[in-house]
Amino acid sequence: MKLDTIVKGGTVVTPGGTFVGDVGIAGEKIAALGSSLDAPGARIVDAAGHYVIPGVLDVHVHLELPFCGTVSADDYRSGTRAGARGGVTTLIDFAIPYAGDSLADAANNWLKKADGKSLIDYTFHICITRWNEHKDQIEGMVKRGFTTFKEFMIYESEGWQSDDRALYGTLEKMREYGTTLLVHAESARVLDELIARHHTPELMKQYGARLHPMTRPNFVEAEAIQRAVQWCEATGGNLYIVHMSTGEGADIIRAAHARGVPVIAETCVQYLVLDDSVFEREDGHLFACCPQLKKPKDVERLWQGLRGGEVSVISTDTCTFTREQKAMWEGDWTKIPMGMPGLETLLPLTYTHGVLGGRMSIEEMCMKLSTNPARIMGLAPRKGAIAIGADADLAIIHPTRTHAVDPSAMETNADWSPFEGWDLAGFSRTTISRGEVIVDDYKVVGREGRGVWLPRTPGLGTGDWGLGETANGARSRGRADAGSPVPSPQSPVPAGTR
Ligand code: URP
Ligand code: ZN
Ligand code: ZN
Repeated sequence: MKLDTIVKGGTVVTPGGTFVGDVGIAGEKIAALGSSLDAPGARIVDAAGHYVIPGVLDVHVHLELPFCGTVSADDYRSGTRAGARGGVTTLIDFAIPYAGDSLADAANNWLKKADGKSLIDYTFHICITRWNEHKDQIEGMVKRGFTTFKEFMIYESEGWQSDDRALYGTLEKMREYGTTLLVHAESARVLDELIARHHTPELMKQYGARLHPMTRPNFVEAEAIQRAVQWCEATGGNLYIVHMSTGEGADIIRAAHARGVPVIAETCVQYLVLDDSVFEREDGHLFACCPQLKKPKDVERLWQGLRGGEVSVISTDTCTFTREQKAMWEGDWTKIPMGMPGLETLLPLTYTHGVLGGRMSIEEMCMKLSTNPARIMGLAPRKGAIAIGADADLAIIHPTRTHAVDPSAMETNADWSPFEGWDLAGFSRTTISRGEVIVDDYKVVGREGRGVWLPRTPGLGTGDWGLGETANGARSRGRADAGSPVPSPQSPVPAGTR
């Protein structure tokens, strides 16, 4: 067999099981899996002593986003270099219409941002911000290969907010087309009221950035998730809750699964490794994002939800702002640009705190970072798994070698990191995207602009996933994990370091 590259002697994680052996690549595709693969002239990538895992899909990213009176600081150049160094080979951004724009305009604007800059492959969720104008444009976007849509239940001042009519109507359309609606679930009016009550010079002086978590109690998210699930249940349209941060959210998803409601939830890695005690820090305002970091009990419930199937995907919600941008708050927490950098540390944090922390197996990690996101977002079987015929998107990681998180040595444009000084294993020694080495020896070597836009087919269409068993035996529809093959016990990671 003609092979261009052979990744040799690694512990290869596939949906069918984990084995020590080789991955053969022909052109852009995985062409062979086995042991002692050989092909004259093939480039050999030594993976001995390393895991070979599918390239990560970060399906929640905001690059170069005009937001909170500024523009997020990572663009398609820095953001995708950061992703590659963290083993990310595909990202999905959000195309948000500017004032008066159609859905097609939004997609075209985001295609321009990525064109000539992106190192890795990409596509966009299309954001519906003005239901009356946008509702008849959805079908055309599906025909163009955009099969996931997004609505925000907050952000009225950005002109992005959707009401219940829009949520209900869009979910009906999702049902019709077999597409999926992503929802940012926070209760706008209660949030407005809590913010208004606390927005006094005295309280701002006394509490500073701590007012951000104080005005976002858990019920702000829980009520909104409950309402979105209600519309999902009423319409049968596929719903995906983005950046779920509360234990209550996980409980609602669990109950919905038991009723067979087609809802899926994502969390972001920061909600798994940080809590709102960071607001006690002098630089606590840097950590402001929406929804806010929650309590240790929420962190525990989200990890449990990853095991139990309530949480199907881990992403980042990368929305980078520099220290200078964050300083725009000047003591008023409502003016903090909301969001944090994340693409570069998604895999290292999940691997270190999940796999090395004994909270998930390496196979489960690959399910949450690669296989589930690819299936749910309509990118499987091309992306998301090491399988013959799939794109040769791989990350090769050392099982124990750590790197300290140091923003000055990172690819992101952020001059700070929420994880600064943390020792993390799981940075990508080698990242391969469609057969091409783009990170070698932990350094980015790929050419900017080589990434391509990915057309999609409807992913988690209603009924496509069938009925599966949850961990506790409840019937479940809509869980991405349902029915996926259980990986066989992993082979021990071979000895040897690099
Ligand atoms: O704080 C955040 N999450 N910024 C990005 C916008 C959003 O809500 O996802
Ligand atoms: Zn959001
Ligand atoms: Zn977001």
